[in-house]
Amino acid sequence: RFLGSLCRHLSHSGAAVLRREEATAVCAELDLQETTKKKTFSEMQKERREQAQRSILISCPKKIPEKKLLKHLCQHGDITNHFFFESFGLHAVIEFSKKESIASLQDASFIPRGETEFPIPFKSRFFHLNLKNPSNQTSDVQCSNQSSPLNANIIKALCNAESVENQINTLMKILQLTEENIRLRYLTCSLIEDIAAAYFPSCTIKPFGSSVNTFGKLGCDLDMFLDLDDIGKNSTTKTEGSFLMEYQVKNVPSERWATQKILGVIGECLDNFGPGCVSVQKILNARCPLVRFSHQASGFQCDLTANNRIAMKSSELLYIYGSLDSRVRALAFSVRCWARQQSLTSSIPGSWLTNFSLTIMVIFFLQKRSPPVIPSLDSLKNLADVKDKCIIDNNDCTFVSNLDRIKPSENTETVDTLLCQFFEYFGNFPFNKNSINIRKGKEQNKPDSSPIYIQNPFEISLNISRNVNESQLERFVHLARESAWILQENKGQSSKTSTEPWGLAALLLPSVPNKSKAKKAGRGQTSEAVKKLLESIKAESTKDPRATRKK
Ligand code: CTP
Ligand code: MG
Repeated sequence: RFLGSLCRHLSHSGAAVLRREEATAVCAELDLQETTKKKTFSEMQKERREQAQRSILISCPKKIPEKKLLKHLCQHGDITNHFFFESFGLHAVIEFSKKESIASLQDASFIPRGETEFPIPFKSRFFHLNLKNPSNQTSDVQCSNQSSPLNANIIKALCNAESVENQINTLMKILQLTEENIRLRYLTCSLIEDIAAAYFPSCTIKPFGSSVNTFGKLGCDLDMFLDLDDIGKNSTTKTEGSFLMEYQVKNVPSERWATQKILGVIGECLDNFGPGCVSVQKILNARCPLVRFSHQASGFQCDLTANNRIAMKSSELLYIYGSLDSRVRALAFSVRCWARQQSLTSSIPGSWLTNFSLTIMVIFFLQKRSPPVIPSLDSLKNLADVKDKCIIDNNDCTFVSNLDRIKPSENTETVDTLLCQFFEYFGNFPFNKNSINIRKGKEQNKPDSSPIYIQNPFEISLNISRNVNESQLERFVHLARESAWILQENKGQSSKTSTEPWGLAALLLPSVPNKSKAKKAGRGQTSEAVKKLLESIKAESTKDPRATRKK
């Protein structure tokens, strides 16, 4: 690329030697190309983790003068970024430009002296700030929002959009993880890593799932993965000489046993010593053993797993699909929100669809368009190079990591057409005989009699929707058909012509029992809650007509 730019420049200027200004221009162009280059998943994770390691979390009193606080902290080094947020009180995230600043701050901080309770002396990166004169302080901080807005407010915002496409973009803007929320997720993992490192120095804790796969919405759980594989990586195996030194280690009967033991002690440690970690539950007999806890200071519900490298790979795969074409995220976001609103998904595990299954269904649908919006997993595997090769427990998890090697799609369908088509497609999918397979990008014969079969992209003998029962699938199919119908019926409507929630807003209305019957009798028969919402939307539009027309 450098040579290309250089040659273009030379032929343009007709000169054999670059003048200083020309060289600067070439460099600027290269810089621009560099910044527009899409980051690979591991580059993104590395950058975020490094940023988190230079950051601290502070619980602050209600009234806090921002400038004074920053000036105070600057004694320990330059601050590159900071923000405030509310979660069981006011908190601040401070990012220093250098890690050493944190050590300097830790040296200047005290372990509190408890009067009725005994503090466990653990020097973490989670601090508590006290004011010497609390009475004469004024607060001037602005809090960044970390939770999703009320449903009624989302529907109002969608009603004011100009088209379904506009509604989908509005929904993403309102609900997607903010820059601050992503930082806070990485920082929380990094704080837990410090605790786990007491047992396993140089272990890493990385976020996975919806925190990193580009489909996360505000309020989603924080899936964490304790990676012990990195511990052995730095040791260079010396083969010369007559001796080979190994660590003396404790052996256990199986890998699962080891995972359970490790998570068991770390869970215990979080429960006893983890600042801000509450409601710790050790769920060690699950298929994938985990420690579930609430990190009160950040407000995240956390699921810590270990030995779960395949889940990290599927997060990377979703990241690739989500970054490839803006329609993937737009569609997955809309479908995930729709399913949550219609109680097709839940935060409690059960016999319903999960967000992961729904996202795979969206990917499959987009692979099936003509021409396809995104390639099959097998095509991504064919684009992989040597360093992308990845085999985990005999499962081939190889696919290309460099996004720039994937050709953009020739499909030009709009996202609102795709949303309507998604519902139509799955409203009529032969779930009784076909399975969903994103590896091939084609449906296959179903290998067993589960109501819905979605092949796990990497552990290909597993069905990721094995938990879903017949009645949940029926509800999904019924609601998909009804939603396709609503979108078609609403075609051409917008905030200018409609006095009722329309397009995506109509799909996100709380589920009304016997909706179809209500429809036959006339669209006006909605529940009390929906009526109230409609009235408030109408009242606002008569108050200030400009407020309801988004330009
Ligand atoms: N996962 C998997 N197989 C499953 C369920 C989950 O491989 N049957 C992996 C996926 O990589 C998924 C991650 O575990 O992204 C986290 O699972 P979960 O928290 O259930 O899904 P999220 O994608 O994080 O979505 P949510 O917003 O509902 O948390
Ligand atoms: Mg999750």
